[in-house]
Amino acid sequence: MKQLNIGLIGCGFMGRTHANAFGKVHHFFDLPYRPVLKAVCARNQDAARAFAAKWDFESFETDWRKLLQREDIDAIDIASPNDTHAEIALAAAKAGKMILCEKPLAMNGPEGKTMVAAVEKAKVPNMVWYNYRRVPAVTLAKQLIDEGRLGRIFHYRAKFLQDWTISPELPQGGAGLWRLDLKVAGSGVTGDLLAHCIDTALWLNGGIDRLTAMTETFIKERKHNLTGKVERVGIDDACAFLARFRNGSLATFESTRYARGHKALYTFEINGEHASIAWDLHDLHRLQYFDHRDEGRVRGWRSLHVTDSDQPYMKHWWVPGLQIGYEHTFIHQVADFLEGLGNGRPASPTFREALDTQYVCDAVLKSARTQKWEKVPGAVKK
Ligand SMILES: NC(=O)c1ccc[n+]([C@@H]2O[C@H](COP(=O)([O-])OP(=O)(O)OC[C@H]3O[C@@H](n4cnc5c(N)ncnc54)[C@H](O)[C@@H]3O)[C@@H](O)[C@H]2O)c1
Repeated sequence: MKQLNIGLIGCGFMGRTHANAFGKVHHFFDLPYRPVLKAVCARNQDAARAFAAKWDFESFETDWRKLLQREDIDAIDIASPNDTHAEIALAAAKAGKMILCEKPLAMNGPEGKTMVAAVEKAKVPNMVWYNYRRVPAVTLAKQLIDEGRLGRIFHYRAKFLQDWTISPELPQGGAGLWRLDLKVAGSGVTGDLLAHCIDTALWLNGGIDRLTAMTETFIKERKHNLTGKVERVGIDDACAFLARFRNGSLATFESTRYARGHKALYTFEINGEHASIAWDLHDLHRLQYFDHRDEGRVRGWRSLHVTDSDQPYMKHWWVPGLQIGYEHTFIHQVADFLEGLGNGRPASPTFREALDTQYVCDAVLKSARTQKWEKVPGAVKK
């Protein structure tokens, strides 16, 4: 097994999920490469040192440019806020490093396009962390659709609901609250939450042709943590859109941080000619499946407990019936990335594939402004 030296940038929520995944993947998967936690980078020296010690990194840096200069780093992992992705990725590609980048790929489509051009010019392996594809039940949904079990798809319905920004007292900006700051996040729930729903949808159901959207910012002004002043809120607090897929199916997407009682309710349902499937992040190891071809007397929604060794990824874990969880999706994504390095088939989504999600997000925000249906350009031919 060859070594792959990782340089991780950012030691917040995603820094932890990634460090955990790199550290564990070789225990469960037989892979051509073994990740080595070479260095972690955070701007604050004490935080970087503490994170390195806790997660077994060999060293730490406080400037990501130094990390890129290091010859002992093979892959740069970008787990910092959205406004940093492009600058770091462009420099990392120039330095010839492989790049794993958190979602959303960029602040907007044009920025994402420059990132795609950079990694393709440098010919460096690249991937975006749309980890929900790697929930075994979601991967199983992909298999069932690709096998044609649903037949022609009529409907795609997705939502991602949270409730953590309802208080007007919540400030915007700075550590932990950069998601409310347009300059750092690029958008609100559209790039943060709907991007996940869109990535899964494009993967399961193909490209989106056109859409019409509405957004709302319920709390118009909030104190900014960095300036200390009350400033206008530029992000979308809630977003809903209707879409037509290129395969002729109709879709509804909804996301908000104002759905009292919901913390991370990501759900989707797909209705086809023969069968339907439904999935819910709060019950992530189950896939609901209804097949109209079943004998009428016993026809009904089946709740598939996706834990068996012939179901996606599960042969690498415990024994049938025993579940895995959220953090495993990141371990699966690392495993697929490393597998792809070995066999030359890049793990998805690549930067180019993730650019399609960015284009949908751009069209959503544009439509909310124009109040018109907007065409969605495609980065990948579908
Ligand atoms: N895949 C997912 O499900 C998922 C979930 C959450 C967040 N994300 C994405 O991951 C990224 C990070 O989000 P998070 O929730 O981990 O944020 P976070 O605020 O928890 O952590 C961000 C980290 O980046 C560091 N950072 C900021 N600027 C930096 C710089 N210039 N150099 C080095 N470090 C810097 C911060 O100090 C912090 O440690 C975002 O792009 C977000 O959209 C993805």
